[in-house]
Amino acid sequence: QTLKIGMIPADGIGHEVLPAARAVLLALGSSIPKPEFIDLNAGFEYFTRTGTALPEETIRVLTEECNGAMFGAVSSPSRRVAGYSSPIVALRKKLDLYANIRPVASVSGTPGSDVDMVVVRENTECLYIKEETQIMTPNGKEARATRLITERASRRIGKMAFETALSRGKQNPVLTIVHKSNVLSVTDGLFRETVRGVPQLEEVQGRYDGVKIEEQLVDSMVYRMYREPATFDVAVAPNMYGDIISDAAAALVGSLGLVPSVNAGDNFVMGEPVHGSAPDIAGKGIANPIAAIRSASLLLTHLGHLEPAQKINDAVDAVLREGKVLTPDLGGRSRTQEVLDEVLKKM
Ligand code: NAI
Ligand code: MG
Repeated sequence: QTLKIGMIPADGIGHEVLPAARAVLLALGSSIPKPEFIDLNAGFEYFTRTGTALPEETIRVLTEECNGAMFGAVSSPSRRVAGYSSPIVALRKKLDLYANIRPVASVSGTPGSDVDMVVVRENTECLYIKEETQIMTPNGKEARATRLITERASRRIGKMAFETALSRGKQNPVLTIVHKSNVLSVTDGLFRETVRGVPQLEEVQGRYDGVKIEEQLVDSMVYRMYREPATFDVAVAPNMYGDIISDAAAALVGSLGLVPSVNAGDNFVMGEPVHGSAPDIAGKGIANPIAAIRSASLLLTHLGHLEPAQKINDAVDAVLREGKVLTPDLGGRSRTQEVLDEVLKKM
């Protein structure tokens, strides 16, 4: 038996951190089915060479041949580039990876705030449907974006969030619904109401009755995360708020280079560090590989290989606790490869 994993490094430090994910999966030996990696194209670099950011072949191999995938990061330019559209946003949509699950946890005995939370981000709609228009008016240009919130997507992300809350084995699980329905009462109102209604759905049969529901407006959510980070358990949010609060949460634990995620749907799962392509450090060999390594661990968890996943996490935690071999984002002087070697040694 093998574990076929599609590998999409994409751009920038994606090429530097994804090999680390591969190495830790290989190091698990026979505790998981033998991993077989399939290298796949996507990204802005690929687009500039070929005119396509996400080739059909990549989608085909992922859906027809792979058990799961790992994605590095893309460099989406801030200016509009004709014909280009972010492949990660497209992948999430095409594979219906409707949940982006982002655990942010500090390791006791390391610098930084005490935090142990999971951001569950809706991954398919909100402003990221990218329906934008611009017109010329007598007063100058006018731009608009459409924000889509559906009951269906809010319900399934709500369920995923309640499941996540249960899966952590906490005594008193709490789910915080993040929204701004004091202003956007129609769109965020629908999100809030739908998630709140999930425990009452007939099909869940009281399964979530033990999860306490709280709410937080997105702006004060960021504020509270900085003031009292330890008070959060699981937070669920529409796409854009989820994007923002998970980067904010990453700052609490010291670096974006530490925070993993998986993009999960009902049929497929793809690990992906939360960070982007980091053009400021790309090519220097100093990117922190831990977010990618932890993403590989999360991928295994979602594929049902809990113990090997834990083994990776324990090794990473040990390296962080020792604090001797760290990349510059954490104040160290070590290189990507040295951190990987240290994790492998601990494993
Ligand atoms: P970024 O996450 O790439 O970088 C933000 C800061 O964090 C930079 O100072 C970077 O050096 C640092 N950083 C990030 N990952 C690190 C790591 N593993 N080790 C050490 N330091 C790390 O965000 P930024 O700069 O806003 O965006 C850069 C590019 O990445 C943009 O083109 C953006 O579109 C893309 N991006 C892609 C994402 C994805 O593929 N899912 C997510 C976020 C941004
Ligand atoms: Mg982001």
